Amino acid sequence: MCGIVGYVGNKNAQDFLISGLRRLEYRGYDSAGIVSLDGNGEPTLLRAKGKISNLEEKLAKNKREDKIGIGHTRWATHGEPSEVNAHPHRAGKIFLVHNGIIENYKELKEQLKKSHEFKSETDTEVLAALINSFYGDGKYPLLNAVVQALKLVKGTYGIAVVSTDLPDEIVVARSGSPLVIGVGNDETLIASDASALVGHTKKAIYLNDGEVAVVTKNNINIKTLNAEPVSAKVEEIETNLSAIQKGEYEHFLLKEIMEQPESLIETLRGRVNVETGTVRLGGPGLTNEELRQIKHLVIVGCGTAYHAGLLAMYYIEQFAPEISIETVIASEYRYRQAYIPKDSVALIVSQSGETADTLACLRGIKKQGIKTIGIVNAIGSTIAREVDGGTYVHVGPEISVASTKAFTSQVVAMVMFGLTIAQAKGVKPGILRPYVEEIAKLPEEISRVLTEMKEPIKEIANKYIKYDHAIYLGRDVAYPTVMEGALKLKEVAYVDANAYAFGELKHGPLSLIDDRFFEMALILDGELYDKTVSNTQEVLARGGHIVAITNVAGFDLPAEDVVKITTDLKIFVPILMNLIMQLFAYYVTVAKGYNVDQPRNLAKSVTVE
Ligand code: F6R
Repeated sequence: MCGIVGYVGNKNAQDFLISGLRRLEYRGYDSAGIVSLDGNGEPTLLRAKGKISNLEEKLAKNKREDKIGIGHTRWATHGEPSEVNAHPHRAGKIFLVHNGIIENYKELKEQLKKSHEFKSETDTEVLAALINSFYGDGKYPLLNAVVQALKLVKGTYGIAVVSTDLPDEIVVARSGSPLVIGVGNDETLIASDASALVGHTKKAIYLNDGEVAVVTKNNINIKTLNAEPVSAKVEEIETNLSAIQKGEYEHFLLKEIMEQPESLIETLRGRVNVETGTVRLGGPGLTNEELRQIKHLVIVGCGTAYHAGLLAMYYIEQFAPEISIETVIASEYRYRQAYIPKDSVALIVSQSGETADTLACLRGIKKQGIKTIGIVNAIGSTIAREVDGGTYVHVGPEISVASTKAFTSQVVAMVMFGLTIAQAKGVKPGILRPYVEEIAKLPEEISRVLTEMKEPIKEIANKYIKYDHAIYLGRDVAYPTVMEGALKLKEVAYVDANAYAFGELKHGPLSLIDDRFFEMALILDGELYDKTVSNTQEVLARGGHIVAITNVAGFDLPAEDVVKITTDLKIFVPILMNLIMQLFAYYVTVAKGYNVDQPRNLAKSVTVE
C-alpha cells in the first residue's frame, strides 16, 4: 500500500525513481511524485494525479542529471487523490515520502499551523512540518530532527527524507511499514518492496521497526530511535527480473493464473514424498512431541488468505479429527477477546507478509504465549520475520492486485502442515496417503485444466458481462472455494458477487434470484452430490441463470453453461474449480475493459488498518 523509492549514487536518480515506482505501482496508483536534488541541493519536484505515466509526461519536460532523490506512489488515506496531496511533501528545506498513517496528525497539525502553512490534507505533510520544526535552518543534524519528530508520532510509517542542505544523504525510518535498503556499488537504493531493487542489486538490508538510518552512496548507518547502533544484516534478493515482468502475457493476472503449475511445484519442492506417502516441512521448527501436543489451530488471514485458511480447515478436519480449528478474519480477531488454549498453534497466512491486521493478530497471539507459524510468500517480510517458525509458499512475486497463485499454494501448504501434525499423532498412513498423492499430482492437473479450459472459459465469460450481480454457491469444501471465486469477480470486474453455502439459500438469499443475477454453482461428485443437485434445481425452478462447474461426467441439469472438469483427483477438485473461477473473473474484466491488474480503490499489500 503506497510505494517508496530513493536513490543516492553516481547514476541518474530520476531514472531509477521512475522505474522503481513503475515496479511498485501495484501498491498504490492514485498519484505519484518524485523529488531530486542537484549538487547544490536545488530540488526538482514533480507530482501528478493518477498513473505513473502521468508523472512520466511531466518528467519528460523536466529531465535532470541529479544523483539523489526520493519518490512515492500513493494509495490515498488522508485527502483525495490529487497533485497537491501527492508525495513528496515539502516543509522548509526538507522533502518527505511516507507510507503508513500518522494517527495523531490532527493534534500535531494544530500545533504546527503557526509555523507551517499547510497545503495538503495529508497526515504526511504534518510529519514533514514536524521534522522541519526540529530541523529549522539546518544546523541540527537531519537524523536528529527525524528522530525527535518520530518520537512524537503515533501510528505507522516507512519514510524517506532529504534536505536541500544535504544533496548526498537520505534519512529513512520504519515502524510498521516496510523499508528495504539496497546496497549497490557506489550507490544506495531505497524501496518499500525489494522488487523495485531487482536488476540493480542483489544485496538488501531490511529495516526493523524502530530503526532509522542515514544512507549515502557508500555508507549505511543504522540506529534505533534511542540512538543504539544496529549492525546491519545484508540479505540476498532472490527474485529475478522475469518474475516481475509480464513476459508473453498481456496482464499480470493472467500470467499469475497460468503460472500456478510452476508456483505450486516451488511450494512442494523437497516437502512431499509420494513413496512413503508423507510430507516434511522444515520451517515450522516443531518437534514430533510438540506436534503431538497440538489440540487447536487458529488460522488468521484477510481476504484471499482467509479463504485459503477456511478451505485448509475443511481439509485438515477430514484427517486430523482430534484437532479443533478456527479460521478467523484478522481485522476482527485483533479486537476480539478470544481465549486461545495453551495447546494451540496459530497459522498466520499472508502473501505479502505485511498486512497490518494480520501482523497485529500475530503480535497479539504471541503475547499470549501461543506458537505462531507463518504461511507467507514474501521472503524477509515483517510477518515472516516475526513468527516463531514458518513455511514459505515460494510462489514468487504476485504483482496483480488480485491474489491467485498465492491462494492455491497457501491451501496446499496449510494442508501439508495439517498432515505433518497428523503424521506425528500417528494417524493411519492409509488415511493420509491419498492426500499426499493428490498433492503431488496437483501441479500436472492444474496445468492440464488451465490449458484445456482457458479458451472455453473466455467464451463463456463473454456471455456474462451484462450482469452486475452474481451468487456463488457451494457446499462443504466447495463453500470456501466459492467465497474466493466471488471475491475475485467482485474485486476485478466490479460485480456484486456474493458467496453462499448452498444449504443456506432457503434461509434467505433464494429470494434474490431473478434476471439481474447469474449463479455460479460448484457441483462436486461425492456424498453431497444429490443434495447439491436438488439445491441447483431449486435455483433453476426460480429462473436462475446457472453456470455449473462440475467433475460429474453425467451431470445433465439444464444449466445455462456447464463447465466439466475431467480429473482423477477426488480430494482437491475445488482447487481446480477455483482456476476456472479465476479465469472467468479475468475474462469478464478484460471484456468489460477494466484495468484487471489494478482494480479501482484497491492496492496490493494492505499495510494500513
Ligand atoms: C484478494 C486479495 C486480498 C488479499 C488480502 C490479504 O484478491 O488479494 O484479499 O488476499 O489483502 O493480503 P496478504 O495475503 O498479503 O496478507
